[in-house]
Amino acid sequence: MWGVAEVFRQARYDEPLLSELEAGGKKERTFPHTETGPEEYIPRRFMRRSPPAIPDLDEATVVRHYTRLSQMNWGVDSGFYPLGSCTMKYNPRVNERIALLDEARFIHPLQDPSTVQGALWVMYDLQEALKRITGMDAVSLQPAAGAHGEFAGLSIIRAYHRDRGDSGRMEVIVPDTAHGTNPASAAMAGFRVVQIPSGPDGCVDLEVLEGALGDSTAAVMLTNPNTLGVFEKDALRIADMAHDVGALLYYDGANLNAIMGKTNPRALGFDVVHLNLHKTFSTPHGGGGPGAGPVGVVDFLSPYLPVPTVERGDEGFFLDWDRPKTIGPVKSFWGNFLVLLKALAYIKNMGGDGLEEACERAVDNSNYLAQRVGDILPVPYGGPWKHEFVASAEPLKDKGVSALDVAKRLLDYGFHAPTVYFPHLVPEALMIEPTETESRKTLDGFVNALSNILEEVEREPEVVKTAPHNTSVGRVDETEAAKKMAFTWRDLEGE
Ligand SMILES: Cc1ncc(COP(=O)(O)O)c(C=O)c1O
Repeated sequence: MWGVAEVFRQARYDEPLLSELEAGGKKERTFPHTETGPEEYIPRRFMRRSPPAIPDLDEATVVRHYTRLSQMNWGVDSGFYPLGSCTMKYNPRVNERIALLDEARFIHPLQDPSTVQGALWVMYDLQEALKRITGMDAVSLQPAAGAHGEFAGLSIIRAYHRDRGDSGRMEVIVPDTAHGTNPASAAMAGFRVVQIPSGPDGCVDLEVLEGALGDSTAAVMLTNPNTLGVFEKDALRIADMAHDVGALLYYDGANLNAIMGKTNPRALGFDVVHLNLHKTFSTPHGGGGPGAGPVGVVDFLSPYLPVPTVERGDEGFFLDWDRPKTIGPVKSFWGNFLVLLKALAYIKNMGGDGLEEACERAVDNSNYLAQRVGDILPVPYGGPWKHEFVASAEPLKDKGVSALDVAKRLLDYGFHAPTVYFPHLVPEALMIEPTETESRKTLDGFVNALSNILEEVEREPEVVKTAPHNTSVGRVDETEAAKKMAFTWRDLEGE
């Protein structure tokens, strides 16, 4: 196994660092001409006294260098990306084009609202659209990620109970099928986490839930469909049970793509919801880019929403800070505004029918793939599935092959690996989410690759155990890679 240093060294052997490149052609630069020099804007004390230590290269060499680097990575634009729970659907280019408009890119968070009416309109419209899609009465766009939305939602629940003088409610019930962020967010919001095991069908076990509910329950957090891709068929009963003891029901809406347009969290009895715009509404995620995790609530919780919300008054749109019971802002500025714009562009472009069709296709694709994968590997829970399913690589253990090995070998066949070892209740889990944007041909190609790998496990398991072989970087020591991150070449210089 390689540590991170070896990985980068290998990348370095294959692909020289920028500083090691030699200029090939004419050093022609195409910087835009500026009328006024920067010295007029930048105070002298901030100006450089010597030129920056950047390599003196021609443009073509630089462009090729970065293009090659980008090809060493894998993205949803390169091919199938069935990373379960992450909904890596293709993001239509039209949304990116819209986000490139100068009016969207060049606004500043401290501008007077009267000068950014268009941007506020976008945000207002998005709030309204999300209200319709979720059935909730009020939405705040403040949180910047799914987990951030969970934290905001749970803080709202906490503020609500406290406000009623019911501050003994310190527990949040979380099923074992929940995404790891659920218990983490509950703990961060100051709650004790009560994890409950699922029943044999992968759904919440109502008897166990009954036993866990009580006077100290603040909320039940539910993801529906859950991370096994199974629809919680007793959702309405669960809502009644939670409400009967004075608790609230939290909807982790990261999997909303599986019910969008068919039903909504409000109809399923939920009080608070967060959405992952960077999943369901097709905005890019990962790679350090900002996301968005708006939070929506039913009427009686709207006083506690994070501020500001965007409202419409007689004189146009404005940022409304006037919410005396608010949990406060959970983010300083709207640095993720372009994500909000892309999400709205996607929603408008798709329309209600389009969103419903996206949901249907995502579920169709998932069921098709689950059936086909189910012919060669066990898929212990579910059927029918919603947006994703979880297969198990456990039978391969006899040959010393793990889920991780299969995932790595898939990279050699030109497919991104599925999520592995999650959810924990499936041994050697391979969590697969095809999304609606993939064709049947792609799904069949994935199954063929998986079948080939299973044959290899019988014939020559070493090939699978040492995969990947065809990628620009070989197998890494994932623990080392996470613990000793090297973000720039300077980090490696210190090695
Ligand atoms: C079910 C579920 N909940 C919550 C999250 C957390 O979202 P984020 O990664 O944006 O914090 C995810 C992320 O994929 C998820 O799948």
